[in-house]
Amino acid sequence: MNCKEDQKVSISTFGKEVCQGLSAAPKYLSSKYFYDQIGDALFQKIMALPEYYLTRAEYDIFKTNASAIVQSFDKNQEGFDLIELGAGDGKKTKILLHELQHSHYDFTYMPVDISQNAIDGLVENLNQEMPGIAVKGQIGEYFEVLDRLHHMSDRKKVIMVLGSNIGNLLHARAIQFLQKLRQAMHEDDLLFMGFDQKKHPQKILDAYNDPTGVTAAFNKNVLTRINKEFNANFDLDQFMHWETYDPETGTAKSYLVSKKEQTVHIHDLSLQVNFKSWESIHTEISQKYDDDIVEWLAEESGLQILDFFTDKDSDYKNYIMTKTI
Ligand code: AVJ
Repeated sequence: MNCKEDQKVSISTFGKEVCQGLSAAPKYLSSKYFYDQIGDALFQKIMALPEYYLTRAEYDIFKTNASAIVQSFDKNQEGFDLIELGAGDGKKTKILLHELQHSHYDFTYMPVDISQNAIDGLVENLNQEMPGIAVKGQIGEYFEVLDRLHHMSDRKKVIMVLGSNIGNLLHARAIQFLQKLRQAMHEDDLLFMGFDQKKHPQKILDAYNDPTGVTAAFNKNVLTRINKEFNANFDLDQFMHWETYDPETGTAKSYLVSKKEQTVHIHDLSLQVNFKSWESIHTEISQKYDDDIVEWLAEESGLQILDFFTDKDSDYKNYIMTKTI
């Protein structure tokens, strides 16, 4: 089986990537395909799990340091656009928005997402809950939107990427991402980014291995999507969720492991996928960092760290960066 584009002119990027990833050795699928409506809801559940410390750590950092964080956003009181890439439900961001409003900062909040639905919901919710705040939702891919704003507004920008979302990227791709963000920034613009930190390996494994199986269902959702969207017959019970963490590299990896020898048919891609017993599909990385790694990533990307905020256990850090000149 091959995945040449000329044979499958009409298939989507998702289809091509499924074809490539499941024809490769070892097999892989991208974690970006976890997120449809069901995947979004499962991720909401993950964020509420007692084991998933990341969301609470970032929430606590904001609660404890709200005043200092927003002060660092606008030291010269010149007003700014607060642009959030991948805004989600806005629960953590609201802490900062409250503080900004309370302290009479001059700002516009611009949540960015590819989902019109997500943006509509968030903007409506904010208009209800915090009617005094200027909110301009932006629909589109991150860089498309940043490019648009770059040309549209000459206001100072503070770009936020929360939740350690950068952790889904291998270092080389994280650097590309940071370089692109840098390109969208002017001299005084800021980048405010969350990085989950290296810690006791068990705590990390537990965060991606909840006993209630929500994370397993989230991981398997990529197979559910392939079943639905490409008319395939993955039997979810014949795959298991498996998590690893390497304390040397700081990389947590998720896999789906085939519990037996089996063949899966993906009809709409004309693809037959054979699994040996215990063969894996690599589905996600969740990179963990320390100051040295973040400093190195920044340096490689033409950025420098100005400041950071952390929780009492140093489980998680939010760094403030600016362009190196
Ligand atoms: C949203 C990418 C930060 O890697 O921790 C949660 C996604 N995967 N549980 C993470 C996720 C499994 C999450 N990020």
